[in-house]
Amino acid sequence: MIVAGNWKMYRGPELDGLRGLDAIVCPPYTRLRECVDAGLTTYAQNVHWEAEGAYTGEISAPMLLELGVAGSLVGHSERRQYFGETDETVAKRTRAALDAGLKVIACVGETLAEREGGETEDVLRRQLSVLEPHPSLVLAYEPVWAIGTGKTATAAQAQEVHAAIRAVLRELGGSAGAELRIQYGGSVKPENAAELMAQPDVDGALVGGASLDPDGFAAIGAAAVAQRP
Ligand code: PGA
Repeated sequence: MIVAGNWKMYRGPELDGLRGLDAIVCPPYTRLRECVDAGLTTYAQNVHWEAEGAYTGEISAPMLLELGVAGSLVGHSERRQYFGETDETVAKRTRAALDAGLKVIACVGETLAEREGGETEDVLRRQLSVLEPHPSLVLAYEPVWAIGTGKTATAAQAQEVHAAIRAVLRELGGSAGAELRIQYGGSVKPENAAELMAQPDVDGALVGGASLDPDGFAAIGAAAVAQRP
């Protein structure tokens, strides 16, 4: 089970409440060092594909590694929706980060219009087709309609799509693809975390809003441990 907390562009909690936490934190860049120094497994929220260059506002894998950062999110739907992230840039960021020695959580998921138009599997197939299996790559299935909306996918909906993702991965990448771990994300809370993570193809959670509350986040981490230590 892999649980990660995405603090987005929020400062995030004081770290005292997170001591001993068995989960990944993805703070804003300004708190990366503080989280690393506190002994937390720390990921960035994004990473560029070049090691350095004239790319204002971006950060590179070597820069993150120098800070002691262990990995990065890539392709979060908010990057895709608001900042022009495409499947191609997601692929470039993912490949460069993995090559540099970072772990990556790559996010995929359909919008409400895509789901209602029956396009969920096609969208996922397109998003997954640019990602090559790698031992340090984890996927996060985050239906866009469930992010920050309070509308969680039901455990059955999550399981159905996770199983479909695994089938697509097997088709695209053989057994290496089928072995990738897949987190669910989208309004995961202490109240629904256990049921979601009890699904056979759900290997953890990517938690946004609820990860800002240390007690709630710790409860989700505990639910993961209880499920599959
Ligand atoms: P949420 O966000 O838990 O607030 O819905 C999840 C995410 O965006 O990773």
